[in-house]
Amino acid sequence: MEDVLRFVHVLGATVLFGTGMGIAFFMVMAHRTGDPAKIAHVAGTVVIADAVFTATAVILQPVTGVWLAHLIGWPLTEGWIVLSVTLYIVTGLFWLPVVVIQVQLRDLARAAAASESPLPERYYRLYKVWFAFGFPAFFAVLGILWLMLTRPSIELPFLQ
Ligand code: HEM
Repeated sequence: MEDVLRFVHVLGATVLFGTGMGIAFFMVMAHRTGDPAKIAHVAGTVVIADAVFTATAVILQPVTGVWLAHLIGWPLTEGWIVLSVTLYIVTGLFWLPVVVIQVQLRDLARAAAASESPLPERYYRLYKVWFAFGFPAFFAVLGILWLMLTRPSIELPFLQ
């Protein structure tokens, strides 16, 4: 059971990281074309990919993680777990607005493509926020991966 859970948990981690990186890369490449129709198409696909892959992994990851900890015997107050969960919350706080922004970017690009007009100022403002929010989320996930793989013994003063 532990092996199966670990497999599902690591699979979730790869989906989370891989989909996140893929989505960011394709969105940036579409944005760089400056073509509203191309941006609308890619942003539309990105919104679906986030709903199907990322959201599923986002929900499954803490479930399989807490279950694994229970099976192995790690207390949830263990330093590396507390830090990982904190980073996970940080990631979520940056990821949720990004999901909303992606829908808005898609809609703005669709409207511009339909009316054959250039992308509005609001599109560029939202894109900047979308781009900036990706960095803390990316580094927080890197931190989680590091903590999960090395499981350092960290003494958190407030948990003594
Ligand atoms: C959010 C709550 C989470 C909890 C409670 C949790 C808990 C755990 C536990 C207990 C293990 C097994 C440790 C051991 O073998 O002794 C583990 C392994 C692992 N976790 Fe998590 N995890 C969480 C989220 C994540 C996230 C978000 C990622 C990556 C994005 C991740 C990536 C991994 C990886 C790659 C391993 C395998 C490490 C190894 O076997 O060497 N976990 N996790």
